[in-house]
Amino acid sequence: MNNALQNLRPVLTQPEYDFGKLLAHVLSPSRPLQSEEFLRGREEQLTGIRKALYAAGRHVFIHEFRGVGKSSLAQTAAFTLSSAQQDPVLLGCDKSNSFGSIMRDLFEEVVSRNPAIEKTLREGAGGFNLGLLTGNGKVTHQEGRASEPNTINEAVRMVRYLCEKYSKDLVVVVDEFDQIKDKEEQEHFANFIKQLSDKHVTARFIFCGIGETIDALMSAHGSADRYFHTVSLDRLDWDARLEIITGAADALGIIIDDTTKYRIAKISDGFPHYVHLITEKLFWRVFEARNNGTVSGALFELSMTDASDAMEMKLKQPYEAATRKYTNDYETILFAVADGHELQRRSTDIFESYVRIMKSLGREPLEREKFNARMNSLKKPSYGAILSANRTGWYEFTEKVIRGYARLRAEQNHVQLEVDHPIGTRRLGWKGAEKARL
Ligand SMILES: Nc1ncnc2c1ncn2[C@@H]1O[C@H](COP(=O)(O)OP(=O)(O)OP(=O)(O)O)[C@@H](O)[C@H]1O
Ligand SMILES: [Mg+2]
Repeated sequence: MNNALQNLRPVLTQPEYDFGKLLAHVLSPSRPLQSEEFLRGREEQLTGIRKALYAAGRHVFIHEFRGVGKSSLAQTAAFTLSSAQQDPVLLGCDKSNSFGSIMRDLFEEVVSRNPAIEKTLREGAGGFNLGLLTGNGKVTHQEGRASEPNTINEAVRMVRYLCEKYSKDLVVVVDEFDQIKDKEEQEHFANFIKQLSDKHVTARFIFCGIGETIDALMSAHGSADRYFHTVSLDRLDWDARLEIITGAADALGIIIDDTTKYRIAKISDGFPHYVHLITEKLFWRVFEARNNGTVSGALFELSMTDASDAMEMKLKQPYEAATRKYTNDYETILFAVADGHELQRRSTDIFESYVRIMKSLGREPLEREKFNARMNSLKKPSYGAILSANRTGWYEFTEKVIRGYARLRAEQNHVQLEVDHPIGTRRLGWKGAEKARL
């Protein structure tokens, strides 16, 4: 054991409160990260964003499917790019938002941090009519809120004003952009970004959204792609997954063996939420065991149940809808869909996995026809529409992040799923890959 570790091990003998505080500092299953200290495996993307933004007038769009770590990359990049004095503005969209309401939220957030800005405007020192102002320079309020800017130009003027009075390095994160479905509203954002760039406004916008929203934004304005540095995020690689676990273990003075680390990394399938959640539950168990900080197989088993029980409803609900049927055929089929590393799998490959899994459990597999019928059912709303398929017979989890939950449930049921990630097997080497199967 190295000295640093020795110094930290007393954490385990401290009161629950202190342990809990430190644990929450190093593991955050449900809160996006904001600091490079904890962001693993995204150095390339962060550098890419930094380099792209040397060019004036460029903004960022981070996209891909749910749960890969979009908000964490966006917020960490935003904190890195903002001035030390002014934190970035973090805004989230929901279905009720429009372009105007997001701009109003931005204005209100900055004003709440620096009321002097509103005061300057009220006294007319802004020297222009902002739409947020009326005639004699009063901020108008609807039900106690500033009114929305009426046009793109007004919004651009407002942001220019915030850059002048609040921070020339203003960075704004617009998260969950996919929630804005209206084409016209999306177009407003695309036009706004173009105007900001054309008018040399120094603020930077970082958007996050799942898959298709990037296409929507880009197609909303012919030249929008010129103004965006786009980052398509993949799942975390093996190294990054392992670093999350090792980093937290070292900080807490917990001794964790390689096999358990690989098991957690394997279950997560590269979705960082699961790495954080399972490790958090495991380290609580270690703390409570008062066993001098050592992970054991029994504690790991318990932590999987803890993690599964604590799983967010949005992940659990479709899974339960799919498996809470009078036959218990469905769960092993979901294990088979989650087998391997590919997000989309051919029905024939899934069937192969399924037969292997059923045999390993000493159960008789369904015939192919019945299996196909089950697969079809799993696309229906009454089964949580947990699977989607294209016409050529490739299946995937509708929400990819649910793969991790299926993998956790498989592990709990002592079902071994294959590791066929090329990086995983290469990095782990033959022995590592074998270990991961343990
Ligand atoms: N690169 C990373 N290294 C370590 N942990 C990470 C990383 N990226 C994300 N996480 C962790 O994973 C969890 C999920 O990440 P995040 O919220 O950023 O994902 P997301 O893609 O925005 O998800 P959603 O689509 O649900 O909004 C966070 O709680 C965060 O702590
Ligand atoms: Mg997010």
